[in-house]
This record gives sequence, C-alpha cells and structure tokens, in this order.
Amino acid sequence: MSASIGFGVIGAGRIGQRHARNVAAAIDDAHLVAVFDASEEAARAATFGGAEVEPSVEALLARSDVDAVIIASPTPLHVAHVEAAAAAGKAVLCEKPISLDHAETVRAMRTVAHAGIPFQLGFNRRFDPGIAALAHALFDGEIGTPEAFRSLSSDPAPPPEAYVAVSGGLFVDSAIHDFDLARWMFGEVRRVTALGRVLVEPYFSEHADVDTSIVTLEFESGALGVVQNSRRTRYGYEVRVEALGSDGKLVAEDAFDPKTWRFDERGVHANHVHYFLERFEAAYRLEVQAFVDALKADRAPSPGPVDAIASLRIALAARESVARGAPVDLTTFTAALEAAEGGSA
Ligand SMILES: NC(=O)c1ccc[n+]([C@@H]2O[C@H](COP(=O)([O-])OP(=O)(O)OC[C@H]3O[C@@H](n4cnc5c(N)ncnc54)[C@H](O)[C@@H]3O)[C@@H](O)[C@H]2O)c1
Repeated sequence: MSASIGFGVIGAGRIGQRHARNVAAAIDDAHLVAVFDASEEAARAATFGGAEVEPSVEALLARSDVDAVIIASPTPLHVAHVEAAAAAGKAVLCEKPISLDHAETVRAMRTVAHAGIPFQLGFNRRFDPGIAALAHALFDGEIGTPEAFRSLSSDPAPPPEAYVAVSGGLFVDSAIHDFDLARWMFGEVRRVTALGRVLVEPYFSEHADVDTSIVTLEFESGALGVVQNSRRTRYGYEVRVEALGSDGKLVAEDAFDPKTWRFDERGVHANHVHYFLERFEAAYRLEVQAFVDALKADRAPSPGPVDAIASLRIALAARESVARGAPVDLTTFTAALEAAEGGSA
C-alpha cells in the first residue's frame, strides 16, 4: 500500500458523507480521491479535500489511485458493490449489514475470500471509546469469568414507514450491532430467545416488523445475555453495555450532552445525545483509522467476513424466535438455512 491510502466512497448519504469527511480530514495516512452516488448532488456534497465525482461505480473502481473503498450505499446494493470492488482488487470497508439475506451474505463473503482483498464491516460500536475500553478490560480478565452480558439500544424516534419497509426489521437493521458486541465480547451464541412487540407505531406490523424487543442469548461458554431495543425513547439516542463477571462488573455508560445541565426541584438533568452520528462521532473516525492501520500493517482488518455472517445469523434467529414463539438453537437454525439454500455452508 502507498504511504497515504487513496479512498473512494460509494454512496454519499447520511453515513457515506460522514466517512468521506473523515477520510479527507481526520484519518492519518489516508486521503479521499473520488466519490460516486446515484445522486450527483449527494456526491458533490461529499467531495471533501478536493475529491472528484465519478460518473459510475465502474469508473471509480477503475482508478489506480483508489486503493480502498467505503461502501455506504443502500443495503440492497452492498453485495453488488462488494463484488465489483473485489473484482477490481480494492480493499473494502462496507457498512452493515452486507445483505438482509443469508445466502447472499455468504456468497459475498466468499467472493471477498477468493479475491483475497482486505475487508472490514462497519460495526462502528466496537470502536466507541467507552465500549472498546469495556471490551479490552474484559479480555484482560479484569472482571474474571464473564457471566452476563447486557446491551440496550434505542432510537429517539421511529424511522419513517418507507425506511421500515426495506430495513430488514429491527433485528437485522439495528439489534445486529448489539449482537455483534455480544459475540465479540462473550464468544459464540448457542441459543436465541426473542420477544418482539409493536408498541410504538402500527406501521411496523404492516411490514412484519417489531419496534420493541427483548432478546436473551445463551453463549457457548454458558454465560447469558440480554439485548433490549426500542425504536422510540423520546429523550434521545440511548446505548449502554454491561458485562458482569466473577470478579466485578464493567459498564459503558450512555452518552449525555454535558454542555447543559438543568438544575430544578426534580433534580439535575442533562440531555441525551440525540442522533447516532453525534453519539458515535469518535467511533466512525476510529473504525476507519483501524481499517487504514490494518492495511498499512498488512494485517486482516477486523471485524471481518466471519463477523458479518455470524451477527446476521443471530439477527435472523431472533426474528425466527419471535415468529415461532420459542427459543431457536443457532446450530440447527443455520443448518436449516444452509439446507434451504442448497448447502451454502
Ligand atoms: N454503522 C452505522 O452506524 C450505520 C448508520 C447508518 C447507516 N448505516 C448503513 O449505511 C448504509 C447507508 O445508510 P444511510 O443511512 O447513509 O442511507 P442514505 O439513504 O442516507 O444514503 C444512501 C446513499 O446511497 C445513494 N445511492 C442510491 N443508489 C445508489 C447507487 N446505485 N450507487 C451509489 N449510491 C447510491 C443515495 O443517493 C444516498 O445518497 C445502509 O446499509 C445502512 O444500514 C450504518
């Protein structure tokens, strides 16, 4: 890899624009070369640092000064964009999820493996300073044997119905972040039991989705986990992670806006950080820096293809558990998925 890695960004909406800005201004050993978006206006708005707009994905991938691409297009396009980037031999950082479909995800990850390109999935929460510190304290044995995992994440307000219609549902679209943290910190999951309800907006029912859920996880190690998600808090974006072990507990606190404290007869109040782009500002920067550092050191970036597939399986198992009203054994569920797909393994 060259001294400074040249980046292309495919898809410059909410998250692609953030990545483009970070690459251009906030990442060591990286610079932004080119942007493609189906909307030229969106692409133009992301040409930070003098990057150029390209007229197509093919044109962007044909550039020899693009070493790596960030794929931040809508989820249904990820597989096509990952496959095109792999064929062009570019390193890829792809936003989550790869696909809503298990067979497609496995196929795309196989393509990545055959092409031998470096690949990282956009599980940004692993790079949130508080959550990362919790994970590393856990890995260093600070709380002894891990026994119970807890993760809570909630949006301030439900997304519009048009988003819900194509999102893949609460588990695949959102809780997948929590499931990734669970297996990163506590290891592989053996059994998933999920409860899901529509309590916030009736339109979630129209799309076979839920807006409120509690998922229990049984890890291979014997430890237990709880993941709680909601599409509405009203008070702001909320993300907390806890790990309980034989020697103590670790808590990655939620983020509050510390600039305004309100003191009144009811107590002392602060605002929650309202939007995920602010909540994970550092994480979005640090995940791209980690990707660049891995490329420069010729190391496989992480989280990678195995994490993409494993987290999706937990999310699909949670959806299946709600539908069945029963626990889902992950090994049996995965075998059934693969059999239905003609043995994709
Ligand atoms: N990791 C995270 O925290 C996080 C947060 C938000 C979104 N995401 C993921 O990022 C992806 C994008 O989400 P978003 O919220 O930025 O969506 P968005 O709708 O804001 O942006 C998507 C962009 O892709 C563009 N686009 C459409 N068709 C295209 C094509 N054929 N080629 C290139 N660009 C095309 C659109 O014009 C738009 O600008 C999704 O997969 C989503 O799941 C991840």
